[in-house]
Amino acid sequence: MLRKLSTLALLASCLVSQAQLDKEVKMNQFITILMQKMTLEEKIGQLNLTSVGFDVTGPILSQGVEEKIKKGLVGGVFNTYTPVAVRKLQDIAVNETRLKIPLLFGYDVIHGHRTIFPIPLGLSASWDPALVQRTARAAGDEAAADGLNWVFSPMVDIARDPRWGRVSEGAGEDPYLGAQMARAMVKGYQGDNFILDNTVLACVKHFALYGAGEAGRDYNTVDMSRLRMYNEYLAPYKAAIDAGVATVMTSFNEIDGVPATANKWLLKDLLRKQWRFNGLIVTDYTAVNEMIAHGMGDAKKVGELALNAGNEMDMVGEIFLNNGVDLVKSGRVSQATIDAACRNVLEAKYKLGLFDDPYRYVNEARNKTAIMNEAKLALSKEAAIKSMVLLKNANQALPLNAAKKIAFIGPLVKDHRNLIGNWSGAGDWKKAVSLWAALEQKFGADKFLYAKGCNLVDDPALRKRLNDHDGQIVLDEKTPEQLIADAVQTAQQADVVVAVLGEAFGMTGEAASRSMIGLLDNQLDLLKALKKTGKPIVLVLMNGRPLTLSWENENVEAILETWFAGTQGGAAIADVLFGEANPSGKLSMTFPRNVGQVPIYYNAKNTGRPFDENQKYTSKYLDVPNTPLYPFGHGLSYTTFNYDDIKLSKATITATDKLQVSVHVANTGNYDGVETVQLYIRDMVGSITRPVKELKRFEKVSLKKGESKDLSFTLTVEDLKFFNADLKWVAEPGDFKVFVGTNSQNVKEASFSLK
Ligand code: BGC
Repeated sequence: MLRKLSTLALLASCLVSQAQLDKEVKMNQFITILMQKMTLEEKIGQLNLTSVGFDVTGPILSQGVEEKIKKGLVGGVFNTYTPVAVRKLQDIAVNETRLKIPLLFGYDVIHGHRTIFPIPLGLSASWDPALVQRTARAAGDEAAADGLNWVFSPMVDIARDPRWGRVSEGAGEDPYLGAQMARAMVKGYQGDNFILDNTVLACVKHFALYGAGEAGRDYNTVDMSRLRMYNEYLAPYKAAIDAGVATVMTSFNEIDGVPATANKWLLKDLLRKQWRFNGLIVTDYTAVNEMIAHGMGDAKKVGELALNAGNEMDMVGEIFLNNGVDLVKSGRVSQATIDAACRNVLEAKYKLGLFDDPYRYVNEARNKTAIMNEAKLALSKEAAIKSMVLLKNANQALPLNAAKKIAFIGPLVKDHRNLIGNWSGAGDWKKAVSLWAALEQKFGADKFLYAKGCNLVDDPALRKRLNDHDGQIVLDEKTPEQLIADAVQTAQQADVVVAVLGEAFGMTGEAASRSMIGLLDNQLDLLKALKKTGKPIVLVLMNGRPLTLSWENENVEAILETWFAGTQGGAAIADVLFGEANPSGKLSMTFPRNVGQVPIYYNAKNTGRPFDENQKYTSKYLDVPNTPLYPFGHGLSYTTFNYDDIKLSKATITATDKLQVSVHVANTGNYDGVETVQLYIRDMVGSITRPVKELKRFEKVSLKKGESKDLSFTLTVEDLKFFNADLKWVAEPGDFKVFVGTNSQNVKEASFSLK
């Protein structure tokens, strides 16, 4: 019987792959025939991705773009959405051009399209790939209902430097967790091979190493060994490729002295040959032009470099459009290179079904039902709740007791402009639920005390920078002193103070690096004044990066990290504050004690002189411990969890064995809760130095008050592998440690060896 079943399965898989093959042959034939009709100019036109701005009435079509579309000189458009606006441009492409080739429509859908979910750094703190996949699916569904067929997400750049503003867009510092999130998002956006018309092309970015810019300054130089690259930075990009991501975006930074967009090793050897990526490669925004400033040559030269390195679509810069023909005619770029690039653009369109129906994504009826519907709003709230991280909770300050007198103080209590965070796509901040609105809805008006306490940003230079880009930070009529005095007076009437502070949304995201990553001085002044009242303080944070919170950690009772929580952020925060939901998020990025510790990450190397308190000449700072304020994986719950010792199925394994790692986890507190059990390993001796810990597994377990469970993880030799000095993926026999615990620091450990 078993044999019969497996023969059937084999037959089925042969049939599937035969069907797949037939489909590909059909696609190739279609594209070959189409390309035979195309002029060189038209082929280069397909490589042109232009941005067409948008206002409420529709796309702002500069005459130039419209003319270019008509001449077949545009392959795709981004920043245009809504069925009406998309239809208008697609009409030109399919009715007024010689070959009627439809356009791609892309957009930066980063953490939701219209319904906004928490920022990606927050989503990753859920440690819940299935949830993240659902948010990407919902975002893809909304985007597709709004005329789009391509999203510039996920951003999977590993980031160890919280000064970099774009840490908010990624999944933090860890290659394993990052890879899980990358896979989940690609699957969420793309579904199953674009069979459904609500699935969209995903775009993994920014290839590669964009998160490793020196000193956390955006667009800055990257210089990294191949070992670090392979072992610590590449996994999430690779996971996206393996999950079938349709497109890859190059990064702005250089790698080995060559900008990624001109880097043949990166795009050809690694991406195409080693990883067998066969989708579409697009540059980042004007990344080709920027190679002039990088010092790689003039416009023609950088165009030549980018095309020969394997870029296929030129985002916005039009270097390919303006120089492509000359480059081919002068022999600097081959016709075959242009043909291959054009074929990949056409393939993306074919796979989406645009040649069958260019209006497949233009559906006014669907637009009305799919966008911001009840299910998506509920998911936004669920994701916000599951992303929140309880950093500290002394004296069970949280959850709050609504019967007490509570003062909500801070410039973010009533704010909804900032709640949806940066890169919030087509999200409308006016539709975001502020914390105050949620409190009123839950408890009625006038239940709680309120004071603004301070401006979100007092510093005029910073405020101007933010307001120049829609920051909308308005100074209060009252002076900072008056604001604080009011807040203190309000706090004095209360039993407990909830201070809602953080960053303005524009303080994270692109071009938003900071050299100091604490709360702004005026916010800290407020907090210090509140502290003097002697009232217990709960600090609710809204921000997009790890912050330095040493003073806060010493001086407030509880700290709840809510990130920029999205459309339903306020409602989610209210549920968590009052205990209707129990926080379960865990940090995906280390919180340093001060900026001087940066870069700081859990999977570091031991060094030859690891810190020893009794030895002077060991690796340390004189003025701050080596340890972070909150380690990777940290996150409390209203309940407590106890871990028993780890049990291993064997003390020694061979390359074909499986190792069972079991642990008993008990909910020992007073609430039902969810714990993320984390498993790390350490390779004790290697042919190259190995990190002190590496995350290899995690599992979320839901435990009722008093309940306990046995958890078991299976490790194989695959989990012990790394790239050695020859960049070979190997496991080396020897001793290993395995750790299981509630975060990367607080763990139980056991040892085993690989024979
Ligand atoms: C960013 C990309 C983004 C692109 C298009 C660039 O500046 O680096 O992440 O997808 O703009 O908006």
